[in-house]
Amino acid sequence: MSLWNKHAIFEKNSVVLVAGILGVVAIGGLVEIAPLFYLKNTIEEVEGMRPYSPLELAGRNVYVREGCYNCHSQMVRPLRDEVERYGHYSLAAESMYDKPFQWGSKRTGPDLARVGGKYSDAWHVAHLVDPRSVVPASIMPGYPFLFETPLDFDTIDRDLSVQAAMGVPYTEDMILNARSDVIAQATTDDAGQGDLLERYPKAQARSFSGRSDGVITEGDALVAYLQTLGTLVDFSTYDGQANVR
Ligand code: HEC
Repeated sequence: MSLWNKHAIFEKNSVVLVAGILGVVAIGGLVEIAPLFYLKNTIEEVEGMRPYSPLELAGRNVYVREGCYNCHSQMVRPLRDEVERYGHYSLAAESMYDKPFQWGSKRTGPDLARVGGKYSDAWHVAHLVDPRSVVPASIMPGYPFLFETPLDFDTIDRDLSVQAAMGVPYTEDMILNARSDVIAQATTDDAGQGDLLERYPKAQARSFSGRSDGVITEGDALVAYLQTLGTLVDFSTYDGQANVR
C-alpha cells in the first residue's frame, strides 16, 4: 500500500478527517502567531507621529459619525499600483493613535490615508459642500450642513481623556487645554498658537473653512483632520530596512 492509499483513512472516517484538519490548521496558526510573541514591538519606530490635536480629533469624530469610512479606506497597501497612486504604503505607526482605526474595508471612493496637503482647504470645502462642483462625475454625497453647524467642543477634553484611557499619550496639560487648543487652531489670530505647536508639532492653524466671523464649524474640524492625514511621519528619516529584525 502506497502512502497515497493511506489517505483513504481520512476520507472514510469523518472524526479522523476533523482531527487531521485541526492538526494542519494548528501548524499554520503557530507559524503565523508564535513569532509575534518573540518580537518586542510590531509597530515600527518613526519620527513625527503624535496624537491628534483636539480640533483634528473633533474632525475625526465627524468623519466617524458621518460614516465616511463606508466609502473610504485609510490604508495604502504595499503594492506597486497603490504606492504609485497614493504614496508611501501605510505604516502600523501611522494608525497607532487611531482608536478605533479607520483602515476601512471598502473603496467606493479613493483611499484617504495620504490625502493631507493634496488639495487646498477651499477645494475640500467646495468638494464637501457639493462634490460635483469640483469632480463632475462624483457619486459622493454632499455634506453642506457641516459648514453651517457650529462645532460642539464643550466636551472635547473628555474625548481626549477617553483616548488617553485607551493608551493614546495625551498628557494632563493637553487635556486641560483641549478647548482653548481648538480655538487656537481654528482661528488665525489666537495667541495660543505657540502652545498649540509645542503640544502638537506641525499642527496647522488657520480658518479651514475660510470663514472670517470666527465661528468654528464641524466642517472646519473635518478639513483640519483631512489635511493632517498621512502628513505626520517624516519619511526622510524612515528606513524601512532598519525595522526588519
Ligand atoms: C457613497 C460613498 C462616499 C461617501 C459616504 C463619502 N465619499 Fe468621499 N468620495 C467618494 C467618491 C466616489 C470619491 C471620488 C470622486 C470625488 O472626488 O468626489 C470621493 C472622494 C473624496 C475625497 C477626494 C479624495 C482624492 O484623493 O481625490 C475626499 C477628501 C473625500 N471623498 C472625503 C470624504 C469625507 C470626509 C466623507 C464623509 C463626510 C466622504 N468622503 C464620504 C465616495 C464617498
